[in-house]
Amino acid sequence: MTFTELGKRVRKHIGQDHRYAHCVRVARMAENLARIHDADSRKARLAGMLHDLARLYSEERLLRDSERLGVPVSDFERAHPIVLHAPLSAALAQAEFAVHDPEVLSAIAKHTLAAGEMSALDCVVYLADGLEPGRDYPERAELAALAERDLRAAMRATIGSSLRYLRSKELPLAPATAAAMKTFGVEAA
Ligand SMILES: [Fe+2]
Ligand SMILES: [Fe+2]
Repeated sequence: MTFTELGKRVRKHIGQDHRYAHCVRVARMAENLARIHDADSRKARLAGMLHDLARLYSEERLLRDSERLGVPVSDFERAHPIVLHAPLSAALAQAEFAVHDPEVLSAIAKHTLAAGEMSALDCVVYLADGLEPGRDYPERAELAALAERDLRAAMRATIGSSLRYLRSKELPLAPATAAAMKTFGVEAA
């Protein structure tokens, strides 16, 4: 399957132009960051394109399809099913798009909460998702520039920024994100 054909199938699966355009931008930015940081740019582009396959699913469908496809559901995920769209999108990439590369699937699965252990590929997809040019918040451009210069510093700053967002909305911190904070040295301030 060519990348154009893949895009058409992803567009159809997602069923919405707005979300599909985000996936295209994430694919492009992840590909670019991978090139800069010596990760596999083809895998980064693929993971970026497929990362949000389940993003528009209802909570009921997220839970049901996770069960159906054998995606483990933690207590945190049961309480906040939206975060399941990341591991479920990885399971769908495998089941419906025949993508079996564990590195690509890992990057998809970790794109929302991050994790204690992240490869360079995991990091570029996480950063591209949060920092693609369609995102609209004050530090975005600065963080995107940092992501081109220093992957680790960009992870620390981007996780810190999402932490401040969670705090401002009084949203809970996922165990996986807490583990990522430790790995990347994010202050819990
Ligand atoms: Fe997502
Ligand atoms: Fe996304």
